[in-house]
Amino acid sequence: MAFLAVRNLTVKREGRTVLSELNFKVDRGEKILIVGENGAGKTTFLETLLGFVKAATGEILFKGKALKEEEDFREARKKIGYVFQNPDDQLFSPTVEEELAFAPLVLGFEREKVKRLVEKYLKLFGLEKLRNKPIFKLSGGEKRLVSIACVLTQEPELLLLDEPTTGLDRENFKKVTEILRSVDCSVITVTHDTKLIETLNWKIYKLEKGRLRPAAHSLSRK
Ligand SMILES: Nc1ncnc2c1ncn2[C@@H]1O[C@H](COP(=O)(O)OP(=O)(O)OP(=O)(O)O)[C@@H](O)[C@H]1O
Ligand SMILES: [Mg+2]
Repeated sequence: MAFLAVRNLTVKREGRTVLSELNFKVDRGEKILIVGENGAGKTTFLETLLGFVKAATGEILFKGKALKEEEDFREARKKIGYVFQNPDDQLFSPTVEEELAFAPLVLGFEREKVKRLVEKYLKLFGLEKLRNKPIFKLSGGEKRLVSIACVLTQEPELLLLDEPTTGLDRENFKKVTEILRSVDCSVITVTHDTKLIETLNWKIYKLEKGRLRPAAHSLSRK
């Protein structure tokens, strides 16, 4: 049984077919990259997996269960971490520390566990000094780090990342790639970043004409 399976997924946005009878699957623990031109539908694909795009037809199976109703997606989202393409669309808590604590608290993790997870990821991302800083006062790169850290505290089984390295300096790029390599969940990373593609060296899919096809590494550089 595939961990995530997508069958004949079609999505129209404002009359245009963005995803067209797309088929795809990811195994538990598998890590993949998705590339594709601007407007190809990469973000749409991730949003559809999360149940945010209503005008979708086809089948999405997560851990063997078909996701149909909003309730099914809501349950699935408890296990799926989503890092938005734009951190300003994602982050909303007053401070860094509260942002990291938000998801695990909502998920009902025990307070001690939440504290432990928050400390673990503040340290891992080098965000300890920023813990009390208001989100709106962070730099672009700092926001990016928080946007990734705050989904990892959710302990996801599947991690979806949309351009996770945009705006990161060399040191933080290294930090993020090391973290993405070390997490033990399934990961789907959407990116245009050729350095990220080369560094991670994961299996690549290209989203083109509404479908996902396995792509050679050289394709990603075209
Ligand atoms: N909320 C929306 N409502 C209507 N159309 C949308 C919406 N979001 C995206 N689209 C359209 O869907 C198509 C795919 O957009 P999407 O954002 O998925 O592309 P992308 O591959 O993520 O591009 P990029 O590399 O620029 O991030 C585009 O034609 C876009 O205009
Ligand atoms: Mg996008």
